[in-house]
Amino acid sequence: MNQFDRHRRLRSSRAMRELVRETRLTMDDFIYPLFIKEGEEPKTEVPSMPGIFQFSLHELKEELEQIVACGIQAVILFGIPAHKDAVGTGAFHEHGIIQEATRLIKEAYPELLVVADTCLCEFTDHGHCGLVENGQILNDASLEILVQTAVSQAEAGADIIAPSNMMDGFVSAIRVGLDEAGFQDIPIMSYAVKYASSFYGPFRDAANGAPQFGDRKTYQMDPANRMEAFREAASDETEGADFLIIKPALSYLDILRDIKNTSHLPLVAYNVSGEYAMVKAAGQNGWIDEEKIVLEMLLSMKRAGADLIISYFAKDVANYLKKGGHGE
Ligand code: PBG
Repeated sequence: MNQFDRHRRLRSSRAMRELVRETRLTMDDFIYPLFIKEGEEPKTEVPSMPGIFQFSLHELKEELEQIVACGIQAVILFGIPAHKDAVGTGAFHEHGIIQEATRLIKEAYPELLVVADTCLCEFTDHGHCGLVENGQILNDASLEILVQTAVSQAEAGADIIAPSNMMDGFVSAIRVGLDEAGFQDIPIMSYAVKYASSFYGPFRDAANGAPQFGDRKTYQMDPANRMEAFREAASDETEGADFLIIKPALSYLDILRDIKNTSHLPLVAYNVSGEYAMVKAAGQNGWIDEEKIVLEMLLSMKRAGADLIISYFAKDVANYLKKGGHGE
């Protein structure tokens, strides 16, 4: 240490610390995930995700009211269809659950941005993100269905298309499809860097989308790899992505920073279901201070390079920030 260093000078009071704070959370940072199920059933809480519910359309309005009151600007939609089949028809049907939910949201709250997750796993009976033949996940054949899905989501009024399926070439295929259908102005928020992660466990309960055989390792990335993240991000950028998602967030903050240093696109960290479940469980047990932990975690994602965060905590954060919490 240099004899002149007095780092504590800038930490001497709350006001001084506020003055030199480099990163802040605001409600503009957040995209809130919503699970919407077909049918009339009352809302059901996801057992492994306390506070997160599957909503039928008729109960969605009430939830939207809360979301808007929290200052949340964008939601990302996941669908739970009544019927599944081999090609995931529910994903691209004009009256699919996502399409219906999108119309309802845009009618009730035109200013609230709807991000449509473009994937097949919630809609296919085998639970994979693409088409399956002889136990293999087909790449190019899946692209056609995904393009159809994206276009139908845009037709329903989605503001942003977020393909999460991890097929090669999905950004360019969807870009061309959207443009041909007249949706040049709809941005693509690509799940560019998506690892084959066990942190998605609770989500698969929430969206009923677990693969019925095998796993997703032939299309999602190996958690051991870093260079592969650069390759994935570069392809999606070249193919015309407008945002890049890094997923999961917490165990991948190094990757978030790496991509921040190399791409100029807005970066989105996906604070996934397993990250949520762990904190909620420990919080409910009184083992951690949930509020402080949540704010510190989310702040770490921004510090690592996230411009936006998809998080199940968004409503909690609204309450914390209202009370004056800053993630200290
Ligand atoms: C669909 C999809 C998944 C998640 C988001 N979109 C599941 C998966 O890829 O297995 C996970 C989100 C979370 O865990 O919160 N492909």
